[in-house]
Amino acid sequence: MVSKINLTYLLSAICSIVMIGQSVDQKVADLLSKMTLEEKIGQMNQYNGFWEVTGPAPKEGNAKEKYEHLKKGWVGSVLNVRGVDNVKRIQEIVVNESRLGIPLLFGSDIIHGYKTLAPIPLAESASWDLKAIENSARIAAIEASSTGVNWTFAPMVDISRDPRWGRVMEGGGEDPFLGSAIAKARVNGFQGNDLTANNTIAATAKHFAGYGFSESGREYNTTNVDDYTLYNVALPPFKAAVESNVQSIMNSFGLYNGVPATGSKKLQRNILKGDWNFKGFVISDWASIMEMTLHGHTTDLKEAAEKAAIAGCDMDMESYAYIKHLKELVQEGSINENTIDEAVSRILKVKFNLGLFDDPYKYCNADREKDLLFNSKHQDAALDIAKKSIVLLKNDTKLLPISKQDRIAIIGDLADDKTSPLGSWRIGSDDETAISVLEGFDKLGIPYQYEKGCTLINGKTEFTQELSINTNNKTGFTEAIELAKKVDKIILVLGEHGFISGEGRSRTDLGLPGVQQQLLEEIYKVNSNIILVLMNGRPLTIPWAAKYIPTILETWQLGTQSGNAIAEVITGKYNPSGKLPMTFPRSVGQIPIYYNQFSTGRQEKQPHVFWSHYIDEENTPLYPFGYGLSYTNFEYGKINVSITADGISASLSIKNTGEFSGEEIVQLYIQDIKSSYVRPIKELKGFEKIYLEKGERKQVKFSLTKEHLGYYTPEGKYTCEAGEFNIMIGPNSRELSTVKINIANFN
Ligand code: NOJ
Repeated sequence: MVSKINLTYLLSAICSIVMIGQSVDQKVADLLSKMTLEEKIGQMNQYNGFWEVTGPAPKEGNAKEKYEHLKKGWVGSVLNVRGVDNVKRIQEIVVNESRLGIPLLFGSDIIHGYKTLAPIPLAESASWDLKAIENSARIAAIEASSTGVNWTFAPMVDISRDPRWGRVMEGGGEDPFLGSAIAKARVNGFQGNDLTANNTIAATAKHFAGYGFSESGREYNTTNVDDYTLYNVALPPFKAAVESNVQSIMNSFGLYNGVPATGSKKLQRNILKGDWNFKGFVISDWASIMEMTLHGHTTDLKEAAEKAAIAGCDMDMESYAYIKHLKELVQEGSINENTIDEAVSRILKVKFNLGLFDDPYKYCNADREKDLLFNSKHQDAALDIAKKSIVLLKNDTKLLPISKQDRIAIIGDLADDKTSPLGSWRIGSDDETAISVLEGFDKLGIPYQYEKGCTLINGKTEFTQELSINTNNKTGFTEAIELAKKVDKIILVLGEHGFISGEGRSRTDLGLPGVQQQLLEEIYKVNSNIILVLMNGRPLTIPWAAKYIPTILETWQLGTQSGNAIAEVITGKYNPSGKLPMTFPRSVGQIPIYYNQFSTGRQEKQPHVFWSHYIDEENTPLYPFGYGLSYTNFEYGKINVSITADGISASLSIKNTGEFSGEEIVQLYIQDIKSSYVRPIKELKGFEKIYLEKGERKQVKFSLTKEHLGYYTPEGKYTCEAGEFNIMIGPNSRELSTVKINIANFN
């Protein structure tokens, strides 16, 4: 055994010397030429690993077989292996015992941090702060890489218009322009400037494509996106990720034109690898190759393997389809070996890009792991972006910020919760590691009295089939109501527990879960000075609160530093600046609801019923995309537009006319008034986050080029049509000033 290991090392050392000076493509070709068909297919195979801490034997699945496959070099990557020791042990098996010693990729869902958790991605998107978002992904990569992980299944860049879908918490919201900017920031954050460094990891943009359009917001459901919407709404963030050199793309559980996305040649081969010239590799979603048969698209696993590989899916996550059937498919001539070579080359290339062949253990340093996880610099950054993610939805009677004299009550189960604010997707974090709202107040030395009011969920386990939400037990109401009577202001913390959103957590009712709405109404009866602090992973429908409660603060799930961020905003230490990345509906019946809709043929209100409307609800949202208030006021000046040879420039001055210094996110929208294909009534095409001292005025300037003014035809052709455009600027997608321009031609 010992001599075999030494021999393998010797061979790989010789290979490395020979390889120095070669380009990555040459290195890949060289290695590929040495591989057997089985070894090539092995690279396309990924296994889940629930490994015992004391050894590499998998606890579940066909453990023995997986172990044998590792030794033979028949595994290209594993997912869900935690900790340096486990990663190292598994890497040692392939490096030392397999014939060619090709290192494994270690993948994991590092969605918003590892041990230090930043806000959930939807919350971060509300900051519109690309630098802070990039930094947050950077920190996630630093922590994850210190535990041996070298590849994340993030960012999720699915545009979604349906808050019933629990996974909206994981993305950038409803808008393709903002979503693309965020996709880019996140990829850059994870991958950094140097992929070979030991603190950067390969990123994955997912789920390709259109998974955010899961019908009726139900997870794993059919998706139905027409080509026009696909090109203009669903694809742009993926394209942005590819342009940012994202190393992998994950396909999806959904359908595209009746074909499972995993088996879609048009999506993967034609658009992604063809039109966009994507150089990384495509990973399936969990068992999505196998599920093609359940969809009724393939007869069995073998046919599923064939269709997926031919369509351009390079790696199989947990379907066992490639490892079981690809060899036979090649031997019988159903799949050309070139198809396999192409897939393997892409996978090997990412491994070379990461520098894994130079040092397969580069991420495995227990001291680094100890030093970096949860370190104080990361806490500071998590606090910074947590504050920036908070959105002030209402402050009619100026209850916020609170003052030192106020007698304060804090009420709500979530106010004392140290796990829920961590949100969904928290692979490496420990329960009870978030700062609660109560702790945030304690830290600032703000006195308060606390009552729980009610219990939100019974039992706190993440993956139970049905989380038991308390729908009838009002224990705690009386004490909370009595407390409410005695104070000046009530901070009422209500919303969704962190386990109520995320993958597999679709909802049909988006109100406050359980008895919380009743609690809110009961307290309002005795004291209306309520500051409603919402914690949730998706837009909620809160029409009653929006009408009666004077102050509403959207705090999402803010991660490790949650309570500190909330306390800083409530006390005015930080002036809120976030803006909604997703529309808040008035009712579930309005969904899908989004700002960049098309004009209908019957848009104008009429005295009869024959116009586009509901008979029982407004058309407008409760809170529109881009909406969010500040403790101060910003006065928007007149828009000046000039058309130059390079494009359009639009500028205006903004003045802080209120009593606080603060940040404002200035937004620019366009409307192509008439074109061959109907265009949305407004489309975000620029935003600027500016800081203004009290009384300060600043000039904001936007530049628009062809890239902003055109659109994709359903055939995927980018086109710009001359004619009239509206240029709109304002603080959100509803309150906009408009200047109409005419562009004679696009050269
Ligand atoms: C299924 C999810 O859809 C995907 O996003 C995730 O990366 C994989 N599971 C692996 O956990």
